[in-house]
Amino acid sequence: MWNLDKIIVKGRKKLNGEISVQGAKNSVLPILVATLLVDGISVIHNCPYLSDVDATVKILRYLGCVVKREGHTITVDSTNIKKFDVPDNLMREMRSSIVFLGGIMGRMGKAVLSTPGGCEIGLRPIDLHLSAMEQFGATITTENGFIDCSAKEKGLVGTRIILSFPSVGATENIILTATLAKGVTIISNAAREPEIKDMADFLNSCGAKIHGAGESTITIEGVRSLCGAEHTVIPDRIVASTYMIATAMTGGTICLKDIVPSHIGPIIQPLRESGCHISVDGRNVVLASPTHLKRIRMIRTMPHPGFPTDVQAQMMALTSIAEGTSVFIENIFESRFKHIGELIRFGAKINTEGRMAVVEGVKSLNGANVKATDLRGGSAMILAGLCADGITELSEIHHIDRGYEEPEKVLGVLGADIKRVNNYETTKN
Ligand code: EPZ
Repeated sequence: MWNLDKIIVKGRKKLNGEISVQGAKNSVLPILVATLLVDGISVIHNCPYLSDVDATVKILRYLGCVVKREGHTITVDSTNIKKFDVPDNLMREMRSSIVFLGGIMGRMGKAVLSTPGGCEIGLRPIDLHLSAMEQFGATITTENGFIDCSAKEKGLVGTRIILSFPSVGATENIILTATLAKGVTIISNAAREPEIKDMADFLNSCGAKIHGAGESTITIEGVRSLCGAEHTVIPDRIVASTYMIATAMTGGTICLKDIVPSHIGPIIQPLRESGCHISVDGRNVVLASPTHLKRIRMIRTMPHPGFPTDVQAQMMALTSIAEGTSVFIENIFESRFKHIGELIRFGAKINTEGRMAVVEGVKSLNGANVKATDLRGGSAMILAGLCADGITELSEIHHIDRGYEEPEKVLGVLGADIKRVNNYETTKN
């Protein structure tokens, strides 16, 4: 049952200051799944408080793991895995639960889970995941919304897999399956997102032999078993990008401490094109806003190191108050423009045609009652509210809690007038 909390923003406060960035959602999720391959105890640091992390922990516990959380550290004892199925209700809590397919197959040689189905941003087919499992020699039956995947007698055997699209999830599932499989697996046209390298670094610290993660060809030599290890999750490049864009939209200056600058490389150039001044000093990045934001000619979302689709909505919010016309092409997901209808409530001028959106910048936005249509669309609503005249009331914020740890507190530290109110408070006022 979603909570009915809302976020209330009073706009026109410049954001200034320095923050550290939470651990990466899209890294901690596959890493927690990867602990299933370990015959022992894994200690994972820098785990953010997110509903997707809670959903992943629920599945680990269901499978027989002993999971403890102390602050931002999660300890997983996966010595006694008992089950290989994941109930439908747990699978549906989170789209990326599909990565449990590789984690469970890798450990148990058999997995039964319900198909994750689509979500707000697209149909999200899993054909690449299933065809990869078959190439490892597994047999797959799909019936009544369930996938039953079983290795043949001789077990899972390493092979060469050429991905027709560099899917993040499929690449992770192949690595998870190949790590304990017999022989060598080579992935061509693999996804190169930093989160994949982070998962591979964790597995290699447990004794795996994964080479080339983060590049488009990855080679995995199967090993017999893994022992436990300690790992610190990388900072979240999407969250870092979101707070940089928030600052640029309110006209302030921000220092992001202890991040990996190369991970946000794809958004630095467009932000500079909009007039921001960005300097990098080791693992600290400083963004100083221009007096007036300028349009960004063209943003095409692409697999990493192209422009990330997970920053499309936030960057669109920025261009909605920039001088001139900006064009967006969404190449990754077929319905990732749901936030546009909500941005228009603020007074933004945006037209779409298929996967293209044309944004004509306006002088200012006005506070509005809007809803979060999905995780990143929801964060774009907060950004629009921060620079709008007046009050913004944002509902359906359960979407945002999937990927941002207490955004109202982080933005509050930077000087924003923002608060979370629960249903009782909203109805009382
Ligand atoms: C990961 O999703 C991220 N999620 C997404 O972040 C991110 O948007 C996406 O990668 C792209 O960068 C996590 O890491 C948990 P894909 P994933 O498989 O793995 C198609 C966020 O906001 N495809 O790379 O599901 C698919 O439909 C989330 O944090 C197939 O056609 O993405 C899509 O169009 C949202 N068949 C494209 O590939 C397949 O079998 C990219 O999907 C698999 C994918």
